[in-house]
Amino acid sequence: MHITVIGTGYVGLVAGAGLADFGMDVICVDKDSQKIGLLNQGKLPFYEPGLKELVERNYQNGRLSFSTDLKAAVERSLVIFLGVGTPSDGEGGVDLSAVQEVAMEIARYLNDYKVIVTKSTVPVGTNRWLKALIDEHKTVEVDVDVVSNPEFLREGSAVEDFMRPNRLVLGSDSPRALAIVKDIYRPLYLIETPFVETTLETAEMIKYASNAFLATKISFINEVANLCEKVGADVHAVAKAMGLDRRIGSKFLHPGPGYGGSCFPKDTHAFALMGRQHGARLHIVDAVIEVNARQRANTLLKLQNALGGDLKDQVVAILGLSFKPNTSDIREAPSIFLVKALLEQGAVVRCYDPTAMEEFKRLYSGDTVYYASNPYDAAKGAAALVILTEWNEFRNLDMQEIRRVMANKERAPAVLDMRNIYDPAKMVAMGFHYDCIGRPVPKGI
Ligand SMILES: NC(=O)c1ccc[n+]([C@@H]2O[C@H](COP(=O)([O-])OP(=O)(O)OC[C@H]3O[C@@H](n4cnc5c(N)ncnc54)[C@H](O)[C@@H]3O)[C@@H](O)[C@H]2O)c1
Repeated sequence: MHITVIGTGYVGLVAGAGLADFGMDVICVDKDSQKIGLLNQGKLPFYEPGLKELVERNYQNGRLSFSTDLKAAVERSLVIFLGVGTPSDGEGGVDLSAVQEVAMEIARYLNDYKVIVTKSTVPVGTNRWLKALIDEHKTVEVDVDVVSNPEFLREGSAVEDFMRPNRLVLGSDSPRALAIVKDIYRPLYLIETPFVETTLETAEMIKYASNAFLATKISFINEVANLCEKVGADVHAVAKAMGLDRRIGSKFLHPGPGYGGSCFPKDTHAFALMGRQHGARLHIVDAVIEVNARQRANTLLKLQNALGGDLKDQVVAILGLSFKPNTSDIREAPSIFLVKALLEQGAVVRCYDPTAMEEFKRLYSGDTVYYASNPYDAAKGAAALVILTEWNEFRNLDMQEIRRVMANKERAPAVLDMRNIYDPAKMVAMGFHYDCIGRPVPKGI
């Protein structure tokens, strides 16, 4: 079966390569000719574990190709997957211009019956609007059906999540379209992936409700962590014991510097707005957003506390720029908020990340921020070191060496462990001013 996937970002490229691996003939189309150029040279535009191998394998066996020519791709394909971006419109809503642009182009190039499968995250009602838009602008009298197939992959384990999802959600009014899409996903059916077949609106809602719920767990445990600090309790033991209750589950109960990434921030805002627009305000989601904003500010407060208030001319090292480990994605990452605040306050920033520094340089050039060659280089001369992303390579640093290279003037060098990866007692015993989230820290010796 011939398939087009529009958008070669995290979702589109993983879906395109994954569907090719399922035996489909896939053309991935993007309007970004630079991206397509890179892909045609065998290079990936971003880092995602396992994706290079998957792309290479299917490119070489001829089932996967890359193009900017949407017309040719649409004409050839029975099924068209949408993986274009749906960023925030800056006012809490969703910018659907890429979806609209693509819909208009599809309408123009229609030559036969097509199934449009929306993987992009879109507000409830968008898929119905999309079909109406294409029907209104098509130049040939052929049928088009839409299927809402929200994507739940996690960056950092996107390939595994696509190939072995917890569930597949398919929303549509059309039994014909559903049958075609189910056929495409037959390999998942064979490994007993649960398929949830539902309406367009319900499928769209499932995506937002799922992301909002996960964000709620994060904001919840962050608030619990902050209370733990006040009363001397250990949030890790609390989260572990909570998670052992199967009704709660252990996932997404890790305190940190606030959630970031390309999905949770924009999706929670969009969901909250949807609630207000439809007269069914989502009070919990509103609170989740507010708690997350406070949590982002919390890192700065802790840093000010560690450095005696004034950050002017203080050297601060940041380990971890990506919003989570195993990705180069920095969208809405806590690092962006921290670096901005630090520079505003006159601090000197030295940072290191295994994969995200090139991305970060687009926001802050090497003249504004120092990009280190490794964690020890970042720590050189720093009064404080902040661990923002729990990359594995940060879990076992030689802390004696870190302490040696940091500034050791009138106060002990500070380590702010926003992912709780070091043992507070050991860090204090080594002579650091150590702080973390929601765990008791022994007094210095
Ligand atoms: N990134 C994730 O982890 C994730 C997970 C689940 C769902 N989603 C959703 O999937 C969608 C895509 O997310 P992403 O992270 O892959 O985005 P992305 O920004 O990485 O990629 C989007 C791609 O679409 C392309 N594009 C935009 N307009 C186009 C057009 N008119 N024609 C052709 N190509 C066009 C862009 O050039 C870009 O390459 C979003 O709706 C997002 O919310 C993302």
